[in-house]
Amino acid sequence: MLTGDRPTGALHIGHYFGSLKNRVELQSLGIDTFIVVADYQVLTDRDSVDRIPENVHELVLDYLSVGLDPDSGITHIFCHSHVPALNQLLIPFLTLVGMGELDRNPTVKEEIDAAGLTAVNAAMYTYPVHQAADILFCKGNVVPVGKDQLPHLELTRKIARRFNQRFCDDGAPVFPEPEGLLSDAPKILGLDGLQKMSKSRNNAIMLRATADETAALLKRAKTDSDRNIAYEPAQRPEVANLLLLASLSSGEPPEAIAARVGSGGSGTLEAFVTDALNEELKPVRARREALARDRQVVADVLRRGIATANEVADAKLPEVRAAMKMDYEM
Ligand code: TRP
Repeated sequence: MLTGDRPTGALHIGHYFGSLKNRVELQSLGIDTFIVVADYQVLTDRDSVDRIPENVHELVLDYLSVGLDPDSGITHIFCHSHVPALNQLLIPFLTLVGMGELDRNPTVKEEIDAAGLTAVNAAMYTYPVHQAADILFCKGNVVPVGKDQLPHLELTRKIARRFNQRFCDDGAPVFPEPEGLLSDAPKILGLDGLQKMSKSRNNAIMLRATADETAALLKRAKTDSDRNIAYEPAQRPEVANLLLLASLSSGEPPEAIAARVGSGGSGTLEAFVTDALNEELKPVRARREALARDRQVVADVLRRGIATANEVADAKLPEVRAAMKMDYEM
């Protein structure tokens, strides 16, 4: 399996329920897991690199706190900027994709709009091809992603297929066509109950928030004036979102929680969510506190992950060159 994130800041509970828990579960099934910290991708929509080192540090701390465990020997966390042979795959891959395809990518278009860019750099259009290199260098065949990443995954499948068709006519295919794995966790809205949870919209509970900060944020979460609590996502999205959070934390269905809160009103509901979420995050926070004491821990995790990724990429590149008949010295 391969998946990853851009180091643009610490993660929030939407990431936790939407993808991180899923990754930990795959790890517990014994599945080899590569997690790419996509630092080059950050440069698609901003010029400054100042915050990348701190963001990488926070991101890896979040990973380790939720239970992703490089000591398991099957989980490898690495930054793609540090894996030269991975990046080299980008060049042949670019020859397999048309300009029109890059231009039509709906996720890229949304990101350009969202960032309000007046000038768009070429990495913005080509990062989905780079992402194919992230996935294919380690023969990733399972890629847990959010819906917005599906166009990129489709492009990765095309690149794998086209490479095999163009260059592997008489031999075994060099790349597998990876499958996306969509999380079955429903989308979590922000504390405004209106938009997707996101740090930039200022409606998020960060994973590193303390129990008290979490309680304070949930007190301010938007609800409605109907004292009778019921799970009605279409009519009462704010209340439904809190019920969903409580449900994801406690494992109890949202309808059952609603029935229990009943006519207790939004105050009772907020107290319920706060307890459930703080209970769920207790071990995560304890691990983070222990890990944050020693900055060297994150550095060691990355050093080991990068070493493994380089071994894998260095073994893959000759195979790719051989298929392209560029293995002159052999
Ligand atoms: N584009 C992903 C994001 O913005 C991060 C990413 C980079 C990724 N490379 C990947 C995700 C490979 C899955 C597979 O979150």
